[in-house]
Amino acid sequence: MAAPPTIAVFDSGFGGLTVLRELLPLIPGARYLYLGDTARLPYGAKSQTTIARYALSSAAFLLAEGAQMLVVACNTASALALDELQAALPIPVIGVIEPGTQAAAASASRSNSASASVLVLATAATVTSKAYARSCAARGLHAFEKACPLLVPLVEEGWINHPVTAEVVRIYLTEALEVAPDARTLVLGCTHYPLLKPILERTLADLDHPMYIVDSASAAARAASSLVPRISTNEPVSCRFFATDSIEKFSRLGAKFLGRPVDPVTLVDLGE
Ligand code: DGL
Repeated sequence: MAAPPTIAVFDSGFGGLTVLRELLPLIPGARYLYLGDTARLPYGAKSQTTIARYALSSAAFLLAEGAQMLVVACNTASALALDELQAALPIPVIGVIEPGTQAAAASASRSNSASASVLVLATAATVTSKAYARSCAARGLHAFEKACPLLVPLVEEGWINHPVTAEVVRIYLTEALEVAPDARTLVLGCTHYPLLKPILERTLADLDHPMYIVDSASAAARAASSLVPRISTNEPVSCRFFATDSIEKFSRLGAKFLGRPVDPVTLVDLGE
């Protein structure tokens, strides 16, 4: 029987756990490594050079831990560093943007709306990179991109069902829909945002603007699973977690986001 593959999943913080959560049932026989680069979060407010440096050092760490595939479970790192990661690593590297756009294109073609517009919520760095705009344009879609810089800190604080977060979401969506009133597909272009899906759905209902929500995390997990041969195993799932800051907080909040214990977490120092 083939040995189970070791799949590394990486994000600046908890957000990539939304990808790991989707991967676990899709590739149950794999060994997983998860790195949250919490000491250097948020990536979304940083420059391309800095994001690429952080992503490369995180990937080098995971490679040294035995990664055989890397899932870049961060839209910001996918938008600004995927080419560098793919060039530098001797293993398959999957980003979240292409799978997310493919899912958006499928949703737009299914919807009855004549609009080929999608609304992408993302970090400031992802929006500035225009990665979604390019990827959508290649599929005949127009992407309206809205930077939502307050959402990642709110999620990292665990405020996923909090009135302040609901108000921030309402303001961002109202502003975005003024610019993109025809959009019927909403792309969650940050892996932290699936944790806000219930608030987003409620707010869209309140604004009387129903949208199909595309989660780039689950689209990326499906893309990764398509590259891994099926393995039948009775072994319990094996996950090792690493964080670059506060392992206690990572374990406590991470368990909420993953829906299972995030333990043990090892503290790693990836430098500045
Ligand atoms: N989860 C990351 C993403 O998908 C962003 C978090 C950050 O800004 O560090 O873009």
